[in-house]
Amino acid sequence: MAAPLPRVEIAATGRHLPDNIVTNDDLALRLDTSDEWIRTRTGIVTRRIADDETGAAAMGVEAARAALAEAGLDASDVDVLIVSTATPDRWLPSTACDIQELLGADGAFAFDLHAACSGFLYALTMAEGFLVAGHGDVALVVAAEKMTGIVDWEDRATCVLFGDGAGAAVVRRSEHPGRGIVASYHRSDGSMADLLCRPSGGVREPMSADVLVRRTHLVQMEGREVFKNAVRSMSEAAGRVLEIAEMGADDIDLMIPHQANVRIVEATARYAGIDMDRVYVNLDRYGNMSSATIPVALDEAREQGLVGPGSTVLTAAFGAGLTWGAMIWRF
Ligand code: ACO
Repeated sequence: MAAPLPRVEIAATGRHLPDNIVTNDDLALRLDTSDEWIRTRTGIVTRRIADDETGAAAMGVEAARAALAEAGLDASDVDVLIVSTATPDRWLPSTACDIQELLGADGAFAFDLHAACSGFLYALTMAEGFLVAGHGDVALVVAAEKMTGIVDWEDRATCVLFGDGAGAAVVRRSEHPGRGIVASYHRSDGSMADLLCRPSGGVREPMSADVLVRRTHLVQMEGREVFKNAVRSMSEAAGRVLEIAEMGADDIDLMIPHQANVRIVEATARYAGIDMDRVYVNLDRYGNMSSATIPVALDEAREQGLVGPGSTVLTAAFGAGLTWGAMIWRF
């Protein structure tokens, strides 16, 4: 049986990065770390850090405006607005509703999706489902993350890894036969939830003076275990999605993996059989922006002409949950 034809496509993309560039050396002024350690263990050189007044919605709306402008659409054309974020501006209502208001997307229904770093891929599949089920013609998927607002700046093993930013994609029913989301594969495993989590600050253990002292409302991570699982699951997902699409590594023009650590990226590409010259890497400039990494990288790759009409792109993500997944897109 041949793989089904794509039903929806990414019609346009956008991104927004805060202006403030923070180098490893800047971090070494306030933490017991060094440029050499961060660079060799992770590949990260700089990251963007949003100012105190800027949250996920403020970054997300800029990325959304850029994607809509490229698509030649108005905010009022959006039917479905899905925001992937692990760093909502507030617990209630959703950041998506704040972005809807900032954007003026009055005709949309809007909600947040939380699947950590895999959220952009989950959200694309959700957008696909809504469009195919007839809930409108235009979906806007935004991934907006202020990771520097939830990391523990006293924990050098985690805070140096992350950065802030937002990416967005306009998703429409495929207008060109064969173009669009060719195949998708999503997984999660809650048995490993504690490897990367914020233990407190939710309803089970609400914020309190004690939580603030213990700092358990901030990100805690078992880096080595996360690393091993990231390589294993992103490799598995890349292999599975190629099988689903009935493609081989040679059919892929560009791989856009989640940007957490260059060693994870290299290992995943090796397992997938894709040389690094066909892998897009920008984590050296931005660090890990959770679910925003993939749409930001896609937007840059399109701008640089690395992805254009006819390109086939393999993407793979991994994050807290644990969650992971992969997709193949044809442009
Ligand atoms: N600067 C200097 N030394 C450090 C730093 C730092 N920033 N952080 C840790 N160290 C020290 C540790 O204290 C330890 O010292 P010790 O041996 O004296 O105890 C030493 O460096 C080695 O620490 P490890 O944790 O074993 O280092 P490792 O080689 O595993 O690298 C890292 C750590 C980079 C965090 C790695 O485990 C990793 O990348 N894991 C995956 C993390 C990740 O990508 N998470 C996000 C994925 S999911 C998502 O995107 C949300």
